[in-house]
Amino acid sequence: MKAIEIRNKYLKFFESKGHTIIPSAPLIPENDPSVLFTTAGMQPLVPYLLGEKHPAGTRLTDYQKCVRTNDIEEVGDNRHLTYFEMLGNWSLGDYFKEESIQMSFDFLTKELQIPVGKLYVTCFKGDNDCPRDEVAAECWKKAGILDGHIYYYGKEDNWWIAGEEGPCGPDTEMFYDTGKPACGPDCQPSCDCGKYVEIWNNVFMEYFKNKDGYSKLQQRNVDTGLGLERMTMLLEGKETPFDTELFSDVMNKLKDLQKVEILESRRIVAEHLRSSMMIISDGGKPSNIDRGYILRRLIRRMIRHLNKLQISLNEISNLIEINVEALKEMYPELEKNKETIKRVINEEKDKFVKTLSHGEKEFEKEIKKLSEQNIDIIPGTTVFKLYDTYGFPPEVTKELAEENNFKLDLKEFEKLFKEHQEKSRQGAEQKFKGGLAEQTEKTIAYHTATHLLHQALRIVLGSHIKQSGSNITEERLRFDFTHPQKMTKEEIQKVEDLVNEQIQRNLDVTCEEMNYEDAKKTGAIGLFTDKYGEKVKVYTIGDFSKEICGGPHVTNTKGMGTFKIKKEESSSSGIRRIKAVLQ
Ligand code: ALA
Repeated sequence: MKAIEIRNKYLKFFESKGHTIIPSAPLIPENDPSVLFTTAGMQPLVPYLLGEKHPAGTRLTDYQKCVRTNDIEEVGDNRHLTYFEMLGNWSLGDYFKEESIQMSFDFLTKELQIPVGKLYVTCFKGDNDCPRDEVAAECWKKAGILDGHIYYYGKEDNWWIAGEEGPCGPDTEMFYDTGKPACGPDCQPSCDCGKYVEIWNNVFMEYFKNKDGYSKLQQRNVDTGLGLERMTMLLEGKETPFDTELFSDVMNKLKDLQKVEILESRRIVAEHLRSSMMIISDGGKPSNIDRGYILRRLIRRMIRHLNKLQISLNEISNLIEINVEALKEMYPELEKNKETIKRVINEEKDKFVKTLSHGEKEFEKEIKKLSEQNIDIIPGTTVFKLYDTYGFPPEVTKELAEENNFKLDLKEFEKLFKEHQEKSRQGAEQKFKGGLAEQTEKTIAYHTATHLLHQALRIVLGSHIKQSGSNITEERLRFDFTHPQKMTKEEIQKVEDLVNEQIQRNLDVTCEEMNYEDAKKTGAIGLFTDKYGEKVKVYTIGDFSKEICGGPHVTNTKGMGTFKIKKEESSSSGIRRIKAVLQ
Protein backbone atom coordinates (compact mmCIF):
# COMPACT_ATOMS: atom_id res chain seq x y z
CA MET A 1 0.00 0.00 0.00
CA LYS A 2 1.35 3.43 -0.94
CA ALA A 3 1.97 6.02 1.77
CA ILE A 4 -0.71 8.34 0.45
CA GLU A 5 -3.26 5.52 0.50
CA ILE A 6 -2.43 4.77 4.11
CA ARG A 7 -2.78 8.47 4.95
CA ASN A 8 -6.12 8.77 3.15
CA LYS A 9 -7.48 5.59 4.72
CA TYR A 10 -6.50 6.90 8.13
CA LEU A 11 -8.14 10.28 7.73
CA LYS A 12 -11.31 8.78 6.22
CA PHE A 13 -11.55 6.15 8.93
CA PHE A 14 -11.36 8.71 11.72
CA GLU A 15 -13.70 11.04 9.84
CA SER A 16 -16.22 8.18 9.79
CA LYS A 17 -15.83 8.04 13.58
CA GLY A 18 -16.84 11.66 13.99
CA HIS A 19 -13.42 13.34 13.71
CA THR A 20 -12.87 16.58 11.81
CA ILE A 21 -9.88 16.51 9.44
CA ILE A 22 -7.66 19.51 10.19
CA PRO A 23 -4.68 20.65 8.06
CA SER A 24 -1.07 19.90 8.98
CA ALA A 25 0.52 22.81 10.80
CA PRO A 26 3.73 24.12 9.18
CA LEU A 27 7.02 22.51 10.16
CA ILE A 28 8.15 25.81 11.59
CA PRO A 29 5.95 26.52 14.61
CA GLU A 30 4.05 29.75 14.16
CA ASN A 31 3.98 31.13 17.67
CA ASP A 32 6.47 29.04 19.52
CA PRO A 33 10.09 30.16 19.53
CA SER A 34 10.91 27.58 22.21
CA VAL A 35 11.02 24.70 19.76
CA LEU A 36 12.95 24.45 16.52
CA PHE A 37 10.47 22.46 14.47
CA THR A 38 7.12 20.78 14.90
CA THR A 39 8.03 17.40 16.35
CA ALA A 40 4.64 15.78 16.98
CA GLY A 41 1.02 16.12 15.93
CA MET A 42 0.02 17.28 19.40
CA GLN A 43 2.38 20.23 19.44
CA PRO A 44 0.15 22.72 17.62
CA LEU A 45 -2.77 21.45 19.71
CA VAL A 46 -1.38 22.09 23.20
CA PRO A 47 -3.80 24.93 24.10
CA TYR A 48 -6.74 22.64 23.27
CA LEU A 49 -5.33 19.74 25.25
CA LEU A 50 -5.19 22.14 28.18
CA GLY A 51 -8.86 23.05 27.85
CA GLU A 52 -9.28 25.80 25.27
CA LYS A 53 -12.17 25.06 22.85
CA HIS A 54 -11.07 23.97 19.37
CA PRO A 55 -13.26 25.49 16.62
CA ALA A 56 -13.45 22.11 14.83
CA GLY A 57 -14.82 20.27 17.88
CA THR A 58 -13.61 17.63 20.33
CA ARG A 59 -12.59 14.94 17.81
CA LEU A 60 -9.79 15.83 15.42
CA THR A 61 -7.55 14.00 12.98
CA ASP A 62 -4.70 15.07 10.72
CA TYR A 63 -1.37 14.25 9.16
CA GLN A 64 1.42 16.33 10.63
CA LYS A 65 4.76 17.11 9.03
CA CYS A 66 7.47 16.62 11.67
CA VAL A 67 11.21 17.16 11.95
CA ARG A 68 13.27 15.72 14.80
CA THR A 69 16.95 16.52 14.66
CA ASN A 70 18.44 15.13 17.87
CA ASP A 71 19.95 12.28 15.92
CA ILE A 72 21.11 13.86 12.66
CA GLU A 73 24.41 12.00 12.79
CA GLU A 74 22.57 8.70 12.97
CA VAL A 75 20.73 9.11 9.69
CA GLY A 76 22.28 6.70 7.25
CA ASP A 77 21.58 3.60 9.29
CA ASN A 78 18.44 1.69 8.41
CA ARG A 79 15.86 3.53 10.50
CA HIS A 80 16.63 7.11 11.49
CA LEU A 81 14.87 9.91 9.63
CA THR A 82 14.97 13.63 10.38
CA TYR A 83 11.72 14.33 8.51
CA PHE A 84 8.70 12.10 8.99
CA GLU A 85 4.94 12.27 8.79
CA MET A 86 2.81 11.54 11.84
CA LEU A 87 -0.82 10.50 11.45
CA GLY A 88 -2.83 11.39 14.52
CA ASN A 89 -6.27 11.49 16.08
CA TRP A 90 -7.31 13.41 19.16
CA SER A 91 -10.03 13.37 21.73
CA LEU A 92 -10.20 16.71 23.50
CA GLY A 93 -12.08 15.66 26.63
CA ASP A 94 -14.25 13.38 24.48
CA TYR A 95 -13.70 9.57 24.25
CA PHE A 96 -11.02 7.88 26.34
CA LYS A 97 -9.22 4.54 26.55
CA GLU A 98 -11.85 2.06 25.43
CA GLU A 99 -13.00 3.83 22.30
CA SER A 100 -9.48 4.92 21.38
CA ILE A 101 -8.11 1.38 21.65
CA GLN A 102 -11.06 -0.13 19.78
CA MET A 103 -10.61 2.35 16.92
CA SER A 104 -6.85 1.69 16.70
CA PHE A 105 -7.47 -2.06 16.71
CA ASP A 106 -10.11 -1.79 13.99
CA PHE A 107 -7.99 0.47 11.83
CA LEU A 108 -5.00 -1.86 12.00
CA THR A 109 -6.85 -5.13 11.56
CA LYS A 110 -9.73 -4.14 9.28
CA GLU A 111 -8.56 -1.15 7.24
CA LEU A 112 -4.89 -2.12 6.94
CA GLN A 113 -5.67 -5.84 7.29
CA ILE A 114 -2.77 -6.59 9.60
CA PRO A 115 -3.25 -10.11 11.01
CA VAL A 116 -4.02 -9.83 14.71
CA GLY A 117 -1.26 -12.32 15.56
CA LYS A 118 1.32 -9.82 14.34
CA LEU A 119 0.21 -7.18 16.82
CA TYR A 120 1.75 -6.68 20.27
CA VAL A 121 0.90 -3.88 22.68
CA THR A 122 2.51 -2.33 25.74
CA CYS A 123 0.85 -0.55 28.67
CA PHE A 124 2.07 1.54 31.60
CA LYS A 125 3.12 -0.61 34.55
CA GLY A 126 2.34 1.96 37.23
CA ASP A 127 4.31 3.93 39.81
CA ASN A 128 3.80 6.52 42.54
CA ASP A 129 2.52 9.11 40.08
CA CYS A 130 -0.02 7.01 38.22
CA PRO A 131 -1.52 3.51 38.65
CA ARG A 132 -0.87 0.50 36.44
CA ASP A 133 -2.92 0.81 33.28
CA GLU A 134 -4.99 -2.34 33.58
CA VAL A 135 -7.90 -0.53 31.96
CA ALA A 136 -5.96 -0.19 28.72
CA ALA A 137 -4.85 -3.82 28.86
CA GLU A 138 -8.45 -4.96 29.41
CA CYS A 139 -9.58 -2.88 26.44
CA TRP A 140 -6.95 -4.54 24.26
CA LYS A 141 -8.05 -8.00 25.36
CA LYS A 142 -11.65 -7.11 24.68
CA ALA A 143 -10.76 -5.78 21.24
CA GLY A 144 -9.03 -9.05 20.37
CA ILE A 145 -5.28 -8.75 21.09
CA LEU A 146 -3.97 -12.26 21.77
CA ASP A 147 -3.01 -13.58 25.19
CA GLY A 148 0.66 -13.08 25.84
CA HIS A 149 0.85 -10.16 23.43
CA ILE A 150 0.43 -7.51 26.14
CA TYR A 151 3.46 -6.17 28.05
CA TYR A 152 3.78 -3.63 30.84
CA TYR A 153 6.66 -1.15 31.06
CA GLY A 154 7.56 1.85 33.20
CA LYS A 155 7.81 5.56 32.44
CA GLU A 156 10.86 5.20 30.20
CA ASP A 157 8.76 3.31 27.64
CA ASN A 158 5.10 3.92 28.37
CA TRP A 159 4.79 7.53 29.36
CA TRP A 160 4.74 10.40 26.91
CA ILE A 161 5.55 14.08 27.31
CA ALA A 162 7.02 16.58 24.85
CA GLY A 163 10.15 17.76 26.65
CA GLU A 164 10.18 18.43 30.39
CA GLU A 165 6.89 20.16 31.13
CA GLY A 166 3.38 20.07 29.74
CA PRO A 167 0.43 17.77 29.17
CA CYS A 168 1.40 14.11 29.45
CA GLY A 169 0.22 10.71 30.52
CA PRO A 170 0.61 6.96 30.31
CA ASP A 171 0.57 5.60 26.80
CA THR A 172 -0.08 2.35 25.07
CA GLU A 173 2.11 1.44 22.13
CA MET A 174 1.39 -0.92 19.29
CA PHE A 175 4.10 -3.07 17.76
CA TYR A 176 4.27 -5.08 14.57
CA ASP A 177 6.04 -8.43 14.66
CA THR A 178 8.14 -8.58 11.49
CA GLY A 179 8.46 -12.35 11.84
CA LYS A 180 12.24 -12.15 12.22
CA PRO A 181 13.69 -14.64 14.70
CA ALA A 182 13.83 -13.51 18.34
CA CYS A 183 17.29 -12.27 19.38
CA GLY A 184 17.15 -14.32 22.58
CA PRO A 185 14.85 -15.65 25.27
CA ASP A 186 14.25 -12.10 26.57
CA CYS A 187 13.25 -10.67 23.19
CA GLN A 188 10.11 -8.57 23.58
CA PRO A 189 8.58 -5.38 22.14
CA SER A 190 10.97 -3.09 24.06
CA CYS A 191 13.93 -4.83 22.46
CA ASP A 192 15.50 -3.03 19.52
CA CYS A 193 16.82 -6.03 17.61
CA GLY A 194 14.35 -5.29 14.84
CA LYS A 195 11.87 -8.10 15.38
CA TYR A 196 9.23 -5.76 16.78
CA VAL A 197 8.62 -2.37 15.19
CA GLU A 198 6.65 0.29 17.03
CA ILE A 199 3.88 1.57 14.82
CA TRP A 200 1.48 3.64 16.87
CA ASN A 201 1.34 5.39 20.20
CA ASN A 202 -1.87 6.34 22.02
CA VAL A 203 -1.26 8.74 24.89
CA PHE A 204 -3.92 9.05 27.57
CA MET A 205 -3.19 12.64 28.36
CA GLU A 206 -4.85 13.45 31.63
CA TYR A 207 -1.85 14.81 33.54
CA PHE A 208 0.16 18.00 33.51
CA LYS A 209 3.76 18.05 34.63
CA ASN A 210 5.73 21.01 35.92
CA LYS A 211 8.60 21.54 38.35
CA ASP A 212 6.37 20.67 41.29
CA GLY A 213 5.28 17.32 39.88
CA TYR A 214 2.15 15.95 38.31
CA SER A 215 -1.40 17.28 38.53
CA LYS A 216 -4.63 16.27 36.77
CA LEU A 217 -5.71 18.23 33.70
CA GLN A 218 -9.24 19.61 33.62
CA GLN A 219 -10.12 17.14 30.86
CA ARG A 220 -9.06 13.66 29.79
CA ASN A 221 -7.55 13.69 26.31
CA VAL A 222 -6.27 11.13 23.85
CA ASP A 223 -3.27 12.01 21.65
CA THR A 224 -2.07 9.47 19.12
CA GLY A 225 0.74 9.28 16.61
CA LEU A 226 1.36 6.74 13.86
CA GLY A 227 4.60 6.98 11.87
CA LEU A 228 3.72 6.91 8.20
CA GLU A 229 7.17 5.97 6.83
CA ARG A 230 7.40 2.95 9.12
CA MET A 231 3.91 1.79 8.35
CA THR A 232 4.60 2.10 4.63
CA MET A 233 7.79 0.09 5.06
CA LEU A 234 5.97 -2.70 6.90
CA LEU A 235 3.00 -2.86 4.55
CA GLU A 236 5.28 -2.85 1.51
CA GLY A 237 7.28 -5.64 3.19
CA LYS A 238 10.49 -3.61 2.99
CA GLU A 239 13.46 -3.67 5.33
CA THR A 240 13.98 0.09 5.62
CA PRO A 241 12.03 3.25 4.76
CA PHE A 242 14.64 3.90 2.05
CA ASP A 243 13.42 0.86 0.14
CA THR A 244 9.84 2.17 -0.04
CA GLU A 245 8.26 4.19 -2.84
CA LEU A 246 8.80 7.31 -0.71
CA PHE A 247 12.53 7.21 -1.42
CA SER A 248 12.99 4.76 -4.28
CA ASP A 249 13.10 7.25 -7.20
CA VAL A 250 15.83 9.34 -5.64
CA MET A 251 17.70 6.29 -4.34
CA ASN A 252 17.69 4.74 -7.82
CA LYS A 253 18.84 7.95 -9.46
CA LEU A 254 21.70 8.21 -6.97
CA LYS A 255 22.67 4.64 -7.76
CA ASP A 256 22.81 5.51 -11.48
CA LEU A 257 24.90 8.59 -10.87
CA GLN A 258 27.32 7.34 -8.22
CA LYS A 259 30.87 6.42 -9.12
CA VAL A 260 31.50 4.74 -5.78
CA GLU A 261 29.05 2.40 -4.06
CA ILE A 262 28.21 3.70 -0.58
CA LEU A 263 24.72 2.77 0.57
CA GLU A 264 24.92 4.88 3.71
CA SER A 265 25.76 7.99 1.68
CA ARG A 266 22.86 7.40 -0.70
CA ARG A 267 20.49 7.17 2.26
CA ILE A 268 21.90 10.32 3.82
CA VAL A 269 21.55 12.26 0.57
CA ALA A 270 17.99 11.02 -0.01
CA GLU A 271 16.88 11.70 3.55
CA HIS A 272 18.52 15.10 3.98
CA LEU A 273 17.32 16.25 0.57
CA ARG A 274 13.71 15.43 1.43
CA SER A 275 14.01 17.00 4.86
CA SER A 276 15.64 20.19 3.53
CA MET A 277 13.00 20.48 0.81
CA MET A 278 10.18 20.20 3.34
CA ILE A 279 11.78 22.77 5.67
CA ILE A 280 12.47 25.26 2.87
CA SER A 281 8.98 24.77 1.49
CA ASP A 282 7.63 25.83 4.90
CA GLY A 283 9.77 28.96 4.94
CA GLY A 284 13.11 27.78 6.39
CA LYS A 285 16.38 29.46 5.40
CA PRO A 286 19.94 28.32 6.14
CA SER A 287 21.80 30.40 8.73
CA ASN A 288 24.23 30.01 11.59
CA ILE A 289 21.72 29.72 14.40
CA ASP A 290 18.88 27.51 15.55
CA ARG A 291 16.54 26.32 12.79
CA GLY A 292 18.67 27.84 10.08
CA TYR A 293 21.71 26.03 11.36
CA ILE A 294 19.95 22.69 11.34
CA LEU A 295 18.92 23.29 7.74
CA ARG A 296 22.49 24.33 6.88
CA ARG A 297 23.84 21.14 8.44
CA LEU A 298 21.35 19.02 6.53
CA ILE A 299 22.27 20.59 3.20
CA ARG A 300 26.02 20.49 3.86
CA ARG A 301 25.94 16.93 5.06
CA MET A 302 24.04 16.01 1.91
CA ILE A 303 26.69 17.75 -0.22
CA ARG A 304 29.52 16.00 1.57
CA HIS A 305 27.91 12.69 0.80
CA LEU A 306 27.28 13.61 -2.81
CA ASN A 307 31.03 14.29 -2.94
CA LYS A 308 31.74 10.92 -1.39
CA LEU A 309 29.59 9.26 -4.03
CA GLN A 310 31.47 11.37 -6.61
CA ILE A 311 28.23 12.77 -7.94
CA SER A 312 28.45 16.22 -9.55
CA LEU A 313 26.79 18.93 -7.48
CA ASN A 314 25.17 20.13 -10.71
CA GLU A 315 22.83 17.17 -10.29
CA ILE A 316 21.17 18.71 -7.22
CA SER A 317 18.45 20.52 -9.20
CA ASN A 318 17.72 17.33 -11.03
CA LEU A 319 17.41 15.38 -7.78
CA ILE A 320 15.04 18.05 -6.45
CA GLU A 321 12.89 17.65 -9.58
CA ILE A 322 12.75 13.89 -9.06
CA ASN A 323 11.73 14.31 -5.44
CA VAL A 324 9.04 16.86 -6.28
CA GLU A 325 7.56 14.40 -8.79
CA ALA A 326 7.66 11.56 -6.26
CA LEU A 327 6.16 13.57 -3.41
CA LYS A 328 3.90 16.19 -4.96
CA GLU A 329 0.74 14.17 -4.55
CA MET A 330 1.40 14.05 -0.81
CA TYR A 331 2.81 17.54 -0.52
CA PRO A 332 1.49 19.80 -3.29
CA GLU A 333 3.39 22.69 -1.68
CA LEU A 334 6.65 21.17 -2.94
CA GLU A 335 5.61 21.76 -6.52
CA LYS A 336 4.46 25.27 -5.74
CA ASN A 337 7.73 26.12 -3.99
CA LYS A 338 10.00 24.17 -6.31
CA GLU A 339 11.94 27.16 -7.62
CA THR A 340 12.54 28.56 -4.13
CA ILE A 341 13.74 25.15 -2.96
CA LYS A 342 16.17 24.90 -5.86
CA ARG A 343 17.44 28.43 -5.32
CA VAL A 344 17.99 28.07 -1.57
CA ILE A 345 19.74 24.71 -1.82
CA ASN A 346 21.94 25.78 -4.73
CA GLU A 347 22.90 29.04 -3.02
CA GLU A 348 23.90 27.09 0.06
CA LYS A 349 25.83 24.71 -2.15
CA ASP A 350 27.76 27.62 -3.71
CA LYS A 351 28.62 28.98 -0.27
CA PHE A 352 29.76 25.58 0.89
CA VAL A 353 31.87 24.99 -2.20
CA LYS A 354 33.58 28.33 -1.52
CA THR A 355 34.30 27.42 2.10
CA LEU A 356 35.69 24.14 0.89
CA SER A 357 38.14 26.04 -1.31
CA HIS A 358 39.13 28.34 1.58
CA GLY A 359 39.69 25.19 3.58
CA GLU A 360 42.10 23.93 0.93
CA LYS A 361 44.15 27.11 1.22
CA GLU A 362 44.21 26.76 4.99
CA PHE A 363 45.32 23.17 4.57
CA GLU A 364 48.26 24.19 2.35
CA LYS A 365 49.34 26.76 4.94
CA GLU A 366 49.19 24.18 7.72
CA ILE A 367 51.27 21.57 5.91
CA LYS A 368 53.84 24.19 4.96
CA LYS A 369 54.24 25.07 8.65
CA LEU A 370 54.50 21.41 9.63
CA SER A 371 57.05 20.63 6.87
CA GLU A 372 59.26 23.41 8.14
CA GLN A 373 59.25 21.71 11.54
CA ASN A 374 59.84 18.29 9.95
CA ILE A 375 56.53 16.99 11.25
CA ASP A 376 54.58 14.60 9.05
CA ILE A 377 51.46 14.15 11.18
CA ILE A 378 48.66 16.68 10.96
CA PRO A 379 47.37 17.25 14.50
CA GLY A 380 43.75 16.45 15.35
CA THR A 381 43.16 20.08 16.28
CA THR A 382 43.98 21.14 12.71
CA VAL A 383 41.75 18.46 11.24
CA PHE A 384 39.00 19.65 13.56
CA LYS A 385 39.56 23.31 12.71
CA LEU A 386 39.29 22.46 9.02
CA TYR A 387 36.07 20.64 9.76
CA ASP A 388 34.56 23.17 12.12
CA THR A 389 35.62 26.48 10.59
CA TYR A 390 35.90 25.53 6.93
CA GLY A 391 33.30 22.78 6.76
CA PHE A 392 36.04 20.46 5.56
CA PRO A 393 35.12 16.78 5.88
CA PRO A 394 37.96 14.79 7.52
CA GLU A 395 37.82 12.26 4.67
CA VAL A 396 38.87 15.06 2.33
CA THR A 397 41.62 16.20 4.68
CA LYS A 398 42.82 12.61 4.78
CA GLU A 399 42.92 12.32 0.99
CA LEU A 400 44.80 15.59 0.66
CA ALA A 401 47.16 14.56 3.43
CA GLU A 402 47.96 11.30 1.70
CA GLU A 403 48.68 13.09 -1.58
CA ASN A 404 51.19 15.20 0.33
CA ASN A 405 52.70 12.29 2.27
CA PHE A 406 51.19 13.35 5.56
CA LYS A 407 49.37 11.30 8.15
CA LEU A 408 46.47 12.48 10.32
CA ASP A 409 45.98 12.29 14.05
CA LEU A 410 42.44 11.04 13.64
CA LYS A 411 42.15 9.83 17.23
CA GLU A 412 42.49 13.34 18.55
CA PHE A 413 40.12 14.60 15.88
CA GLU A 414 37.49 12.05 16.82
CA LYS A 415 37.67 13.07 20.43
CA LEU A 416 37.13 16.71 19.53
CA PHE A 417 34.42 15.79 17.08
CA LYS A 418 32.50 13.68 19.61
CA GLU A 419 32.61 16.50 22.05
CA HIS A 420 31.32 18.91 19.43
CA GLN A 421 28.57 16.47 18.52
CA GLU A 422 27.61 16.18 22.16
CA LYS A 423 27.43 19.94 22.50
CA SER A 424 25.16 20.34 19.50
CA ARG A 425 23.04 17.42 20.60
CA GLN A 426 22.66 18.95 24.03
CA GLY A 427 21.87 22.27 22.40
CA ALA A 428 19.18 20.73 20.24
CA GLU A 429 17.71 18.77 23.12
CA GLN A 430 17.63 21.76 25.33
CA LYS A 431 15.84 23.75 22.65
CA PHE A 432 13.43 20.89 22.26
CA LYS A 433 12.69 21.06 25.95
CA GLY A 434 12.02 24.75 25.62
CA GLY A 435 14.89 26.53 27.26
CA LEU A 436 17.51 25.57 29.77
CA ALA A 437 16.33 22.63 31.80
CA GLU A 438 15.96 23.36 35.51
CA GLN A 439 18.40 21.44 37.66
CA THR A 440 16.64 19.67 40.50
CA GLU A 441 18.03 17.47 43.27
CA LYS A 442 17.10 14.45 41.20
CA THR A 443 18.71 15.60 37.94
CA ILE A 444 21.85 16.61 39.84
CA ALA A 445 22.03 13.11 41.37
CA TYR A 446 21.65 11.63 37.89
CA HIS A 447 24.48 13.81 36.73
CA THR A 448 26.78 12.34 39.37
CA ALA A 449 25.46 8.83 38.67
CA THR A 450 26.46 9.35 35.03
CA HIS A 451 30.09 9.90 36.10
CA LEU A 452 30.02 6.78 38.26
CA LEU A 453 28.54 4.80 35.39
CA HIS A 454 31.12 6.11 32.92
CA GLN A 455 34.01 5.04 35.16
CA ALA A 456 32.39 1.69 36.04
CA LEU A 457 32.00 0.92 32.33
CA ARG A 458 35.66 1.68 31.78
CA ILE A 459 36.63 -0.67 34.60
CA VAL A 460 34.33 -3.50 33.53
CA LEU A 461 34.53 -3.22 29.73
CA GLY A 462 37.84 -1.45 29.15
CA SER A 463 39.33 1.96 28.56
CA HIS A 464 38.05 2.12 24.98
CA ILE A 465 34.74 3.27 26.48
CA LYS A 466 34.07 6.87 25.55
CA GLN A 467 30.99 8.93 26.16
CA SER A 468 29.21 9.81 22.95
CA GLY A 469 26.05 11.28 24.39
CA SER A 470 24.18 11.88 27.60
CA ASN A 471 20.70 12.99 28.50
CA ILE A 472 19.14 13.42 31.89
CA THR A 473 15.53 13.84 32.93
CA GLU A 474 13.81 13.69 36.31
CA GLU A 475 13.08 10.03 35.68
CA ARG A 476 16.29 8.55 34.33
CA LEU A 477 19.70 9.01 32.84
CA ARG A 478 20.63 8.00 29.35
CA PHE A 479 24.24 7.39 28.44
CA ASP A 480 25.65 6.59 25.00
CA PHE A 481 29.13 5.17 24.69
CA THR A 482 31.46 3.51 22.24
CA HIS A 483 31.49 -0.26 22.53
CA PRO A 484 31.31 -2.81 19.74
CA GLN A 485 28.93 -5.36 21.24
CA LYS A 486 25.95 -5.94 23.47
CA MET A 487 26.84 -6.10 27.14
CA THR A 488 26.30 -9.46 28.82
CA LYS A 489 24.02 -9.86 31.83
CA GLU A 490 27.10 -10.38 34.02
CA GLU A 491 28.74 -7.20 32.75
CA ILE A 492 25.58 -5.21 33.43
CA GLN A 493 25.41 -6.66 36.92
CA LYS A 494 29.06 -5.85 37.58
CA VAL A 495 28.61 -2.26 36.45
CA GLU A 496 25.52 -1.84 38.60
CA ASP A 497 27.27 -3.31 41.63
CA LEU A 498 30.31 -1.13 41.14
CA VAL A 499 28.20 2.03 40.96
CA ASN A 500 26.14 1.05 43.99
CA GLU A 501 29.29 0.24 45.94
CA GLN A 502 30.57 3.79 45.33
CA ILE A 503 27.24 5.34 46.30
CA GLN A 504 27.30 3.38 49.54
CA ARG A 505 30.86 4.47 50.31
CA ASN A 506 29.50 8.03 50.87
CA LEU A 507 32.22 9.52 48.69
CA ASP A 508 32.84 13.25 48.66
CA VAL A 509 32.49 14.98 45.33
CA THR A 510 34.93 17.84 44.82
CA CYS A 511 35.45 20.31 42.03
CA GLU A 512 38.61 22.04 40.83
CA GLU A 513 39.05 24.57 38.08
CA MET A 514 42.16 24.29 35.94
CA ASN A 515 43.18 24.75 32.36
CA TYR A 516 42.58 22.08 29.81
CA GLU A 517 46.16 20.84 29.48
CA ASP A 518 46.49 20.43 33.25
CA ALA A 519 43.15 18.67 33.44
CA LYS A 520 44.35 16.21 30.85
CA LYS A 521 47.51 15.60 32.83
CA THR A 522 45.50 14.62 35.91
CA GLY A 523 44.10 11.75 33.87
CA ALA A 524 40.58 13.16 33.95
CA ILE A 525 38.24 11.60 31.42
CA GLY A 526 35.31 13.24 29.74
CA LEU A 527 34.43 15.74 27.12
CA PHE A 528 37.32 18.01 26.33
CA THR A 529 37.06 21.57 25.21
CA ASP A 530 38.45 22.49 21.81
CA LYS A 531 39.61 25.87 23.03
CA TYR A 532 43.13 25.40 24.32
CA GLY A 533 44.01 27.31 27.43
CA GLU A 534 40.37 27.52 28.44
CA LYS A 535 39.52 26.80 32.08
CA VAL A 536 37.59 23.62 32.71
CA LYS A 537 36.05 22.09 35.82
CA VAL A 538 37.28 18.71 36.98
CA TYR A 539 34.93 16.80 39.27
CA THR A 540 36.45 14.11 41.47
CA ILE A 541 34.32 11.47 43.18
CA GLY A 542 36.38 9.98 46.03
CA ASP A 543 39.15 7.83 44.57
CA PHE A 544 36.84 6.45 41.91
CA SER A 545 36.26 9.00 39.17
CA LYS A 546 37.82 12.15 37.75
CA GLU A 547 36.00 13.78 34.91
CA ILE A 548 35.88 17.08 33.10
CA CYS A 549 32.37 18.46 33.29
CA GLY A 550 30.42 21.65 33.81
CA GLY A 551 28.43 20.23 36.74
CA PRO A 552 26.45 20.62 38.91
CA HIS A 553 26.94 17.54 41.11
CA VAL A 554 25.96 16.30 44.55
CA THR A 555 28.54 17.06 47.25
CA ASN A 556 28.52 13.49 48.58
CA THR A 557 27.20 10.26 47.07
CA LYS A 558 25.27 9.56 50.25
CA GLY A 559 21.54 9.28 49.69
CA MET A 560 21.68 9.06 45.91
CA GLY A 561 19.60 5.89 46.02
CA THR A 562 20.07 2.53 44.34
CA PHE A 563 21.38 2.53 40.82
CA LYS A 564 19.61 0.22 38.38
CA ILE A 565 20.25 -0.28 34.66
CA LYS A 566 16.89 -0.58 32.94
CA LYS A 567 18.01 -1.01 29.37
CA GLU A 568 21.17 -1.68 27.40
CA GLU A 569 20.66 -1.37 23.67
CA SER A 570 22.27 -0.36 20.42
CA SER A 571 22.05 3.34 19.63
CA SER A 572 23.84 3.31 16.28
CA SER A 573 26.73 1.41 14.78
CA GLY A 574 29.42 0.94 17.45
CA ILE A 575 27.49 2.95 20.02
CA ARG A 576 25.59 1.40 22.93
CA ARG A 577 22.94 3.15 24.98
CA ILE A 578 22.17 2.62 28.65
CA LYS A 579 19.07 3.87 30.40
CA ALA A 580 19.31 3.76 34.16
CA VAL A 581 17.43 4.97 37.21
CA LEU A 582 18.15 5.84 40.81
CA GLN A 583 15.53 4.20 42.99
N1 ALA B 1 2.52 12.58 20.86
C1 ALA B 1 2.73 11.17 20.80
C2 ALA B 1 4.02 10.81 20.11
O1 ALA B 1 4.66 11.66 19.53
C3 ALA B 1 1.58 10.49 20.16
O2 ALA B 1 4.42 9.68 20.13
